[in-house]
Amino acid sequence: MASAARSASRAFLRSSFRPAVRSTRSALPQGFRAASRRGYSSEAEPPKSSSNTLLWAGLAAAGGAGAYFYLKGADSGISSKNFTPTQADYQKVYDAIADRIANETDYDDGSYGPVLVRLAWHASGTYDKETGTGGSNGATMRFAPESDHGANAGLKHARDFLEPIKAKFPWITYSDLWTLGGACAVQELGGPAIPWRPGRQDKDVAACTPDGRLPDAAKDHSHIRDVFGRMGFDDREMVALLGAHALGRAHTDRSGFDGPWNFSPTVFTNEFFRMLVDEKWENRKWNGPGQFTDKTTKTLMMLPTDIALVKDKGFKKHVDRYAKDNDAFFKEFSDVYVKLLELGVPFTTKAEDRFVFKASE
Ligand code: HEM
Repeated sequence: MASAARSASRAFLRSSFRPAVRSTRSALPQGFRAASRRGYSSEAEPPKSSSNTLLWAGLAAAGGAGAYFYLKGADSGISSKNFTPTQADYQKVYDAIADRIANETDYDDGSYGPVLVRLAWHASGTYDKETGTGGSNGATMRFAPESDHGANAGLKHARDFLEPIKAKFPWITYSDLWTLGGACAVQELGGPAIPWRPGRQDKDVAACTPDGRLPDAAKDHSHIRDVFGRMGFDDREMVALLGAHALGRAHTDRSGFDGPWNFSPTVFTNEFFRMLVDEKWENRKWNGPGQFTDKTTKTLMMLPTDIALVKDKGFKKHVDRYAKDNDAFFKEFSDVYVKLLELGVPFTTKAEDRFVFKASE
């Protein structure tokens, strides 16, 4: 559950910022605002192995959270010794991501959180339960061709955002870092706790998944069931996952679609479902891909796959439930996002041993 302070800021954002969505930046709660700009560059990232700072030792034997690392002078507070990261170490990574989310506000609607949630999802959503390929274990989106897949357009912003964190904590794999980034962003934007565990290993370019595994927003309910069914999700889980569209926006230079789903795109709520149910949605007349716009302000949008959730009876009953019951949405979203982020990962730890990170105040 979100804290009272977060609920208040959420209500504030929602009530004060219809319909000037982009101005949410100026009204973000203290923690969201930039105290200082750090200006990390966002240059092209050759796949980095951190080879000069990190030597793997006994990885296969140790596995998962118990991996051993030998660090040489990295900016991690740890030097020249064997290192087994603990929950406290992962909390430090969490805190560093949260800090960067709070301070790097000169982006989009004022937060990198939404694009981090999307990076974690696209890294994981390539999973195929039949072949066991894809999923978050590998972070193969570091490489072309996967980074160039149309569905991944714009995710370089999220990958680059996490680079300074990787430099500071070179012992964490990209696969763990990207999923931890998604979990952190949900929590920091006022969403439910997302229990998380380490254990993913990075793979090389050969493990890139073929294009076409992620969903196409122009399609209908059967496509949603095909794609998420391939990952092993049922109807209820599919709807809960789509609730992440409370966050962020579509960009014409990425997907071709345009606009946010609601008036508080940097706060995690059940607003996606409330807007689906409460607003009237009509075809947007514009020179772009088919999408829907709200009749009242014509400033919001829904994708064809979003509208499919209210057209399909099996999906609609969950949309209605989540629109009415934010607690149910938070609980079920947390469960299914955790499941998504763990698809295909050969953990050596138990589900009960997942970490619940302390969110920033
Ligand atoms: C049928 C399934 C889905 C489709 C077709 C879909 C499609 C899209 C599209 C077209 C965008 C706009 C991208 C852009 O132009 O920047 C987007 C953004 C986003 N999606 Fe989805 N998505 C789906 C499922 C999900 C799921 C399961 C999650 C997370 C659990 C998610 C999280 C997000 C977020 C947070 C954004 C905003 C990103 C930003 O602001 O940069 N989506 N999605």
